[in-house]
This record gives sequence, structure tokens and C-alpha cells, in this order.
Amino acid sequence: MKNALITGITGQDGSYLAEFLLEKKYRVYGIMRRKSVVDYGNVEHIKDKINFIYADMTDSVSLITAMKISQADEVYNLAAQSFVATSWEQPLSTADIDGIGVTNILEAIRIIKPNARFYQASTSEMFGLVQEIPQTEKTPFYPRSPYGVAKLYGHWITKNYRESYNLYACSGILFNHESERRGKEFVTRKITDAVARIKHGILNHLELGNMDSKRDWGHSKDYVRAMWLMLQQDKADDYVIATNETRTVREFVEMAFKHVGIEVEWHRKGIDEVGKDKSTNKIVVKINPKFFRPAEVEILLGNPAKANKELGWIREISFAELVKRMVDNDMSIVEKEIKISNIK
Ligand code: NAP
Ligand code: GDD
Repeated sequence: MKNALITGITGQDGSYLAEFLLEKKYRVYGIMRRKSVVDYGNVEHIKDKINFIYADMTDSVSLITAMKISQADEVYNLAAQSFVATSWEQPLSTADIDGIGVTNILEAIRIIKPNARFYQASTSEMFGLVQEIPQTEKTPFYPRSPYGVAKLYGHWITKNYRESYNLYACSGILFNHESERRGKEFVTRKITDAVARIKHGILNHLELGNMDSKRDWGHSKDYVRAMWLMLQQDKADDYVIATNETRTVREFVEMAFKHVGIEVEWHRKGIDEVGKDKSTNKIVVKINPKFFRPAEVEILLGNPAKANKELGWIREISFAELVKRMVDNDMSIVEKEIKISNIK
């Protein structure tokens, strides 16, 4: 039985990875932050199967202790302040957690169990102002947010520890991946949650920022499988994980509404643009400039050819299926909420 330590286990990816590793019969340890109210986040449903350790990415002693307790064979570093917009509001804590935090966990591995295998959650945000389309492992980086800059440090320190200390340390350069468990501040979940509420008549409209930015969106369940595959190879390396398809935020909006039978028609331009329900002429989408970012990543499109070839990784959940799953999930959550409020 192998031991795995997951930082960020309560998050979206942490929860799918924990399920995946439990199925493979790993003993799963997960790092949790102390909160005033105990909250297992996305692993509430499997909390009895996980060995939790209280630790924080900014506290190196707690990470050394976590390595000592878990004696992990594989360490998946998924913990991060992961919301790009917040990284302008909290640039220093983002740097501490997403940048220096990576050195903290690498040092814990080096001190306690240098033969442990390490996965770093790198990101397509590091490509930022993209230098070529599509992006591959060889594309130069140009981060556009404090988040992207911090993650780039994490990426390079992982490579550096691999080369300096011969650690088995990999970075997965993962493009956007979403799911029914996505945080509601990210654009996809914000859209699917709003679509469900508008459909049920409990929200008038959805407010968004830049609808023309393009993302390469996959499903988290497919992406955690790639993380595991990276740690099962003969040699540690870095891989782009993406779908090789890109869509605008606008396309996501259209498809999500279409799934509940609403056809959106666009009127006017710029910050005055609105999306109307074609059958009722009612406004369902508006622009709110507060959701624009100080610097935008306009287009992400990843080429996962190396992962396809060397890891045998292929994504199984299509874009249409991703949107469908997210909308269906939010529709049933909203229906339950309405039922409960009617009973009360
Ligand atoms: P997420 O849902 O936001 O989860 C982040 C996790 O990190 C949560 O469990 C959170 O704990 C934990 N965390 C935050 N600060 C911490 C700290 N100081 N110490 C310990 N834990 C801390 O993110 P995700 O979407 O699953 O993403 C997982 C990782 O992949 C992140 O590193 C993200 O940057 C990276 N990534 C994500 C994507 C994507 O599209 N999803 C793409 C590329 C890379 P709490 O529950 O206590 O907040
Ligand atoms: N969140 C949000 N809210 N984004 C909006 C909105 C809005 O109201 N309106 C437009 N957008 C645009 C953003 O400007 C961005 O171009 C795009 O929608 C996607 O935003 P997010 O869903 O917040 O994700 P992200 O691409 O910034 O970052 C995600 O993907 C990265 C990988 O490329 C996160 O998961 C990061 O942690 C991850 O590294």
C-alpha cells in the first residue's frame, strides 16, 4: 500500500485526486488549514477515509511534520490561493502560498523523505501574454498576474530541486479545468449557478467582465489522472495538460443557457452589451466593469501532444459534456434550495 500526501485536499482537484487514489488503494493523507468552523470542503463525503493533518503552506515546520507523519511515497502539491483576481488584492499572501510554499514543501521532502515523488500544480496562467499559439512545454512564459508570477517561481523551484538534488519532481502545466465542485467565483461555475437561478426565476441576470477572453476548458476528473500518471514514469518531467480546444467566455454562456432552453441574443457593444433571452426579450446577461482585470490573459490554447504520447493521457470529458454536467448539477442544487425554502 502506497502513501500519498495531498496539499489542497479540500479544493476541487484535491477531492477528485483523493477519490482516484483511494480507488487505487493508496493510504491518503491530506493537509487541512485550521478554520474557526471545521470545514472539509469538497471531501466531506469521503472524510472518514482520509488522514487529515493540520498544516499550512506558509509554515514550513507544519509541512515537515506532515511529511514525518505521512511518510508519503507521492506528494501532490495542489494547495494555492488559486483565484487570479484575488491575487491583485492579496499579492503578498499569494506569493507566500503559491511561490515560497512550494520551496517549503520541497524542503520538507528533502529533509524527511528525499525518495518521495513530487507533483507541482503549475498552470497555463504562466503563459499569460502568450508568446505562441498553441502553447506547449517549450513556449516561453510571460505571466500577467501576481498569481501567475508566484506560480512561475513554484514551477522553476520544482525544476531546480529536480536538477540540484535529483528529486523526482514534476510540474503539470494544467490548463483551465472545471467541474461540479468548482468554486463559485470562477467564471464557469458563476455562469452555471446563475443560469440555474435565472431558469428558476430567483435571479434576474448574470453580471460578467471580459466575455471575449478564450480558455481551454477541460474537466478536473480527467486532469487528476494526468497528475498521477506523471508520478508513475521512469523519469520526472514536465507536461502540458489541455484539450487543444479554446472557447470564449461568451460561448460558455451561450451553451449553458441553451442547455436549459434559453437562447441568448447579444445587443449593443462594449460595457453596454447585454444578452437577452430571445423568446422573452428579457435581459439575462450584463457587463459589470468591476469584473475586468488589471491585466488580462486573452487566449489560452494548450497542445497536450507530449502527455498524449508519453503518458498515454487523453481527456475523456468533452466541452459540451462539461457544460451539461455543471448546469445539471446547479439545476438540482437550486431545486433542492427552493424545496427547502418552501417547506420553511
Ligand atoms: P481550489 O479549489 O481553489 O483549492 C485550493 C486548495 O488550496 C484548497 O484546499 C485550499 O484550502 C488550499 N489552500 C489555500 N491556501 C492554503 C494554505 N496557505 N495552506 C494550505 N492549503 C491552502 O483549487 P483547484 O482548482 O483545486 O486547483 C488545485 C491547484 O491547481 C492549485 O494550486 C491551482 O493553482 C492549480 N491549478 C488549477 C487549475 C484549474 O483550472 N483548476 C489550472 C492550473 C493549475 P481551503 O479549503 O482551506 O481554502
Ligand atoms: N472569475 C470571473 N468572473 N472571470 C470572468 C468574469 C467574472 O465575472 N467575467 C469574465 N471573466 C473572464 C476572466 O477575465 C478570465 O479571462 C476568464 O473569464 C476565466 O476566469 P476564471 O474562471 O476566474 O479563471 P482564470 O482563467 O483566471 O484562472 C483559472 O485557470 C488558471 C489556469 O489557466 C484558475 O483556476 C487558476 O487557478 C488556474 O491556474
